Amino acid sequence: MRRSEGPRQDAVLGRKGDAAAVGTLNELALRPIEPGDARVCHELRRRAFLEVFSRFMDETLTSAGAEAYSVSEFSQHLADMPTAVAVAGGEIVGFCTVRRRDEREAELLWLYVRLEHVRRGIGSRLARHAESLVRTRFPDVSRIVLVTGVPAYNQAFYERLGYAKLGTEVVAYPTASATMVKMGKDLHEGNDGQDGQGPTGG
Ligand SMILES: CC(C)(COP(=O)(O)OP(=O)(O)OC[C@H]1O[C@@H](n2cnc3c(N)ncnc32)[C@H](O)[C@@H]1OP(=O)(O)O)[C@@H](O)C(=O)NCCC(=O)NCCS
Repeated sequence: MRRSEGPRQDAVLGRKGDAAAVGTLNELALRPIEPGDARVCHELRRRAFLEVFSRFMDETLTSAGAEAYSVSEFSQHLADMPTAVAVAGGEIVGFCTVRRRDEREAELLWLYVRLEHVRRGIGSRLARHAESLVRTRFPDVSRIVLVTGVPAYNQAFYERLGYAKLGTEVVAYPTASATMVKMGKDLHEGNDGQDGQGPTGG
């Protein structure tokens, strides 16, 4: 397959039906990040670049994104920004991190689900929880945004949660930069996407 074509979605996203691997979703718990969680979160992010984003990005950008942070830098960022981890079967299966951008905007900076466990609702739970974190921690913010370098892969996921494309934005990693897609959602319009669950659902 040529790199530019991207993978078949179901080949990348894994399958449903083997919930025993993570325990059932009923066992999924969200909690604030703890210092010992940073290494796992760093690896979840790095793997997403190397194993998924690499099929949509060129090699230089993939590598720049994957290696953008050392574990200790990442750990510091996670400690500095509101972050929650999703735990199932005693294992961290995803995390989300938000940050304030300015007086009206916050950003869903990181949202990563362990690749073996995608398409089981974990990402949606974390995304809603991220919105809840923004409402709680930055109550005067009216919009949550995110920037994705792989819209062909994850834009539909965000659209389902009520996000819409706003434009583009340049993202700079230490060794490469790229124009990426900016998406956003008004937090005060009750626009929570197709499934209608509120932002505190996570
Ligand atoms: C994108 C990501 C967070 C989604 O998490 P997830 O747990 O798989 O998402 P959910 O199971 O909650 O998906 C809910 C719905 O969104 C849609 N969806 C999810 N991922 C999708 C994708 N890659 N492409 C198209 N639709 C998708 C589907 O409609 C899905 O419902 P369905 O499984 O019943 O069809 C996850 O795939 C991931 O971490 N990927 C790697 C990292 C990444 O892309 N992070 C975002 C950085 S900007």
